[in-house]
Amino acid sequence: MNITYYGHSCFGVEIDGKHILFDPFITPNELAKHIDLNQIKADYILISHGHYDHIADAISIANRTGAKVVSNFEIVTWINNQGVNNTHPMNIGGSWKFDFGTVKCVLAVHSSTMPDGSQGGNAMGFVIETQKGSFYYAGDTALTYDMKLIGDFYKIDFSFLPIGDNFTMVVENAISATNFINCKKVIGMHYDTFGFIKIDKIESVRKFADAGSELILFEIGETKSI
Ligand code: NI
Ligand code: MN
Repeated sequence: MNITYYGHSCFGVEIDGKHILFDPFITPNELAKHIDLNQIKADYILISHGHYDHIADAISIANRTGAKVVSNFEIVTWINNQGVNNTHPMNIGGSWKFDFGTVKCVLAVHSSTMPDGSQGGNAMGFVIETQKGSFYYAGDTALTYDMKLIGDFYKIDFSFLPIGDNFTMVVENAISATNFINCKKVIGMHYDTFGFIKIDKIESVRKFADAGSELILFEIGETKSI
């Protein structure tokens, strides 16, 4: 899988030529000014919850690419009301087989109000199973004991976990999550974008290593094969 970081919690994952984009928030991100929105490929846009820092560019990318937007029922309804009709509504506990793999919606302990104040359902994470491996995209969440269920039911190859504290998990919580998920390879997200979530990146990588886990941090715009 080729993974490209677009800043904050936004990643593009290429699986067998299909492009899955997670939580698009690029144009308002001061750290992502060098990213050209029009170059971002998407066949699917997966949205974990309704907050602005996860959805800001979803409509424009969906309109340009024709990508199918996958999220919870309330967010999909909100997206439909913005004139985007290629959507797939889901909710926590449910799964669906798409052409790139199977998406399972899992618990995230967080809120989900839409940018206009309307109701955005419940925040979710995603477990994605593909021919090329399986991964967990946590969205915004606290550490939760329910992450053990992911470790029990799936063989996860890597996880996208928030590590910026204040709104989500702190590094130490994300390290505990690796034990629950039973996967030691973590791609960090939701850090440095704004003042409340600035982290010491070198120290964070060291803390993971000391705990026998691996924290991978991307430069914004960087692509890695994982
Ligand atoms: Ni949030
Ligand atoms: Mn957020």
